[in-house]
Amino acid sequence: MSFKDKVVVITGAGNGIGKLAAQKFAENGAIVVLSDINGDNAEQSATEINENGGQAMAIKADVSNENDIDNMVSKVIDKYKTIDILINNAGFTRDFLIGKMTIDDWDAVINTSLKGCFLTTKYASPYMIENKAGKIINISSRAYLGNPGQANYSSAKAGIIGFTKAMAKELGRYSINVNCIAPGLTETAALKEHEKYEMIKERALKETPLRRLGQAEDVVNVMMFLASDQSSYITGDVLHVTGGRFG
Ligand SMILES: NC(=O)c1ccc[n+]([C@@H]2O[C@H](COP(=O)([O-])OP(=O)(O)OC[C@H]3O[C@@H](n4cnc5c(N)ncnc54)[C@H](O)[C@@H]3O)[C@@H](O)[C@H]2O)c1
Repeated sequence: MSFKDKVVVITGAGNGIGKLAAQKFAENGAIVVLSDINGDNAEQSATEINENGGQAMAIKADVSNENDIDNMVSKVIDKYKTIDILINNAGFTRDFLIGKMTIDDWDAVINTSLKGCFLTTKYASPYMIENKAGKIINISSRAYLGNPGQANYSSAKAGIIGFTKAMAKELGRYSINVNCIAPGLTETAALKEHEKYEMIKERALKETPLRRLGQAEDVVNVMMFLASDQSSYITGDVLHVTGGRFG
């Protein structure tokens, strides 16, 4: 799949799924912009890509901060003149049962996952509208179906699906595809370091028809499909990458 000279902006690209996505898009010819609140990680990941012959730029940005996103988009436009593909991947969990969840726990998760998608789309979409072309891929989660202890995360990830569908209707007339991926449990380095990793894994395996955990590559393969011309008649949709686990 060739993305030769396509400008791809990926949020949360300093680690995990976003980092692998940046590597794979770069291997397939794209110019990748790795954005992350952790500027050092973004920088290191971009350096690795450049050292391997790819084209990458790192930008430190908090997706929940309007100034950061305004500046990020300006920097990309100054350097590359356009944005072809936007991948809204930044997100994290902060789990507590509802009685223990603070307003800060709620706001932090909603602001990163949901407001983050809003801000990047608001600032990047005018360039896609100008081009009459573009792909926006938002990363939701199977958790949109509702997980105990994840009122904030489940709400944010369900919100991303509504946002995706609204944007697909708003931007479709400009040939901009807006889709969403809902991964199930995905075995990233961060997940493997989780103190309850073995317990989480055992439970997930029992509930997953394909009897294995997802890998970052499973999600990235679907991102690439949605970013390609192969999916040009798909918009406003949610692709589940869950090994068949729904619930
Ligand atoms: N790993 C899973 O099991 C899983 C399952 C379903 C959905 N997801 C979703 O996939 C996406 C990537 O997850 P991952 O597992 O690779 O996580 P990860 O923690 O490995 O990477 C997430 C990256 O986002 C960055 N980030 C956090 N807050 C940010 C902010 N405010 N602004 C910019 N960057 C920020 C982090 O610094 C980190 O580099 C997330 O949206 C996550 O919710 C993950």
